[in-house]
Amino acid sequence: MSALEQIRERTDLVPRVGIVLGSGLGAVADAVEDAVSFAYAELEGFPQGSVAGHARALHLGHLAGVPVAVFQGRAHLYEGVAAAELTVPIRTLRALGAEAVLLTNAAGSLVAEVTPGKLMALTDHINLMGTNPLMGPNDQAVGPRFVAMGATYDPDLRARLHAAADAEGITLADGVYLAVTGPAFETPAEIRAFRVLGADAVGMSTVPEAIVAAHCGLRVAAVSCITNLAEGMSDEVLSHEGTLAAAAVGAQDLARLIPRFLQELA
Ligand code: HPA
Repeated sequence: MSALEQIRERTDLVPRVGIVLGSGLGAVADAVEDAVSFAYAELEGFPQGSVAGHARALHLGHLAGVPVAVFQGRAHLYEGVAAAELTVPIRTLRALGAEAVLLTNAAGSLVAEVTPGKLMALTDHINLMGTNPLMGPNDQAVGPRFVAMGATYDPDLRARLHAAADAEGITLADGVYLAVTGPAFETPAEIRAFRVLGADAVGMSTVPEAIVAAHCGLRVAAVSCITNLAEGMSDEVLSHEGTLAAAAVGAQDLARLIPRFLQELA
């Protein structure tokens, strides 16, 4: 049985929007009303991760009156998951009937003014992961072999994110996200190079999902929760614990931003 069939055995809810919660940002899942929940471990084909601090479950229910599918945690390439496996949750979301996905993540900032705890709406990305989740045979019924990426981060959804941020009094920066596989953080020289390339934030997720979403026709919005200044920009020794602690700050703003964003959509 596919993950879609497994979900449909327990709920007929059709989510309008999927929300993927990144590292340390899982608390938003607690706000889902009348949730029907599935551990990723029980869903066929869902990639399993292994990193502490990442609870992993899918919750179908309502947020701010909007039917949603909230993905609490995600698998990452650095866990040894193959890029192609990252297609399954996003394509399941599409098959459930969603129109859009909001991707969130924890990221390092390359912009001195965008400090830890702040949020950044993604305008675009740079894929330096050295892989692509669409590599391999293409199912034409899902999407085209060669997918245009020019309008991946939907300008209208980003405008609604900004409207929601304004309404909540939350500062929301804009920026380009550069993705690496990790798990090592970057070197100072890499960060200098990434700045020249045009990156404003750096992280280890989101880009595979954005590509899969663009391919299967989901509109994409994305928000980074800045957990640290990128390597070389401060004296902080980067660590996963530091990432999670700083994410908890941004998560509070995100917990207000997301329901407002959904209201803006409704
Ligand atoms: N680099 C890569 N990924 C990250 C960082 C970083 O500085 N912070 C949080 N995730």
